[in-house]
Amino acid sequence: MNYNKTITNNKIELLNYLPNIGISNVKEEILTGLLAKQKYISPKFFYDGIGSELFEDITRLDEYYPTKTEKNILAEIVTDLDINFNKLNIIELGSGDASKITLFLEQITKDKLKTINYFPVDISQSAIEKSAEELLAKFELNSITGVVADFFHQLKLIPQNGKRLFCFFGSTIGNFNSDKAKKFIKNLSQNMQKGDSLLLGMDMVKNITILENAYNDNKGITAEFNLNILNVVNNLTGTNFNTSDFEHYAFYNSDLNRIEMHLRAKKDIEVNFTSKNKTIKFNKGETIHTENSHKFTSENINEFADFSNLSVKKIFVDSKEWFSLVHYLKE
Ligand code: SAH
Ligand code: AVI
Repeated sequence: MNYNKTITNNKIELLNYLPNIGISNVKEEILTGLLAKQKYISPKFFYDGIGSELFEDITRLDEYYPTKTEKNILAEIVTDLDINFNKLNIIELGSGDASKITLFLEQITKDKLKTINYFPVDISQSAIEKSAEELLAKFELNSITGVVADFFHQLKLIPQNGKRLFCFFGSTIGNFNSDKAKKFIKNLSQNMQKGDSLLLGMDMVKNITILENAYNDNKGITAEFNLNILNVVNNLTGTNFNTSDFEHYAFYNSDLNRIEMHLRAKKDIEVNFTSKNKTIKFNKGETIHTENSHKFTSENINEFADFSNLSVKKIFVDSKEWFSLVHYLKE
C-alpha cells in the first residue's frame, strides 16, 4: 500500500494515505456534485488548514453548544466507563484539535497512560500534526500514530491489532446522510473484534431556535467556514469560484431532523471547471448544498446498535439532554 511516512520523533509517526485516493478522483467527485440538479460539495472538503482553524473558532462560539456540552460530559466520564485502559489502542476518528481526547486522557492514571497507543485519524494533516505534538507534550503515552485518511473510504487502513477503543466525537456521524451513517457504523462494527468498543457523540433533536442559532452565529464565523469550501475547491480543482458571489444559508429541516448548510448565489454566475473543460452555471438564488448536520433521538441510538450488531453499554447525557455520548460494545 502506498503512503507517505514521516517520523517526527521517536514517539510520533505520521501515515498519510490520502495520495491513494488520487487527485483525478477528487476532481471527478467535486465535478459530479457541481453538475447535479441540487448542486453539492461534500463537507469533507471544509477541512484545509484554514477550514480546520475556522472550525476550532466555531467550537468557541457562544451559540455553538455541541462542543461545550460534549466536553462537559467527557470531563467526568472515565470512572463510569467500564474499559480496561491497560495497553489500549485508542483510535479517534475525525480527531481535529484533539481537545476532547485531552479531557479524556486527563482522567487516566499515569501508569496506564504509559501503555496506551493513540491513533488520531483525520483528513486534515495540519490538524493531526499540531495535535500530536501538543498531546505528546502533555501526556506520557506509549506512542502516537497520526493517520491522515478519509475515514469513510479508508477505514480498512486503521490499526487492526490489540484491544481497541474507537472514539467518534463531535456528532460528526451526523454529517453523513442516514443511510451512509448506518453503513459507516456497520462497517466499523465489522472491523471491531469482540471486546472492542466505540464512544459515539450524538447531538440530539432540540428547540429549533437553539439549533438554527448554532449555525448562524452573530460573528459570522460559520459563514466564513462555509464560504471557505469554495477556496478549497479552487485549490484542488483550479475552478474560479469567488466567495463574494455567494452567501451563507443554514436552516433546520424538521422533516429530516437536520440542519442544512448551503451557499446561495447572489447573482447569475458562471464558474470554469477548466481541468474538465466544463462550465458550471448558477442562477441567482440557486444553492450549493455543503453540509447536513443530523440531530438524533434515542430511537436512533438503538437503531445504530441493532443495524450494526453492537450493544449499547451505557448512554452519558448532559442535564438538558442536548447531547449523548454512547458507549457501544462489540460482544
Ligand atoms: N472531533 C472534533 C472535530 C470535529 S470536526 C470535535 O469533536 O471537535 C470534524 C473533523 O473530522 C475535522 O477534523 C475533519 O478534518 C474531520 N473529517 C471530516 N471528514 C473526514 C473524512 N471523510 N475523513 C477523515 N476525517 C474527516
Ligand atoms: C463537524 N460537525 C459535526 C460540525 C456540525 O455541527 O455538523 C461541523 C459544523 N458545521 C457548521 N458548524 C459546525
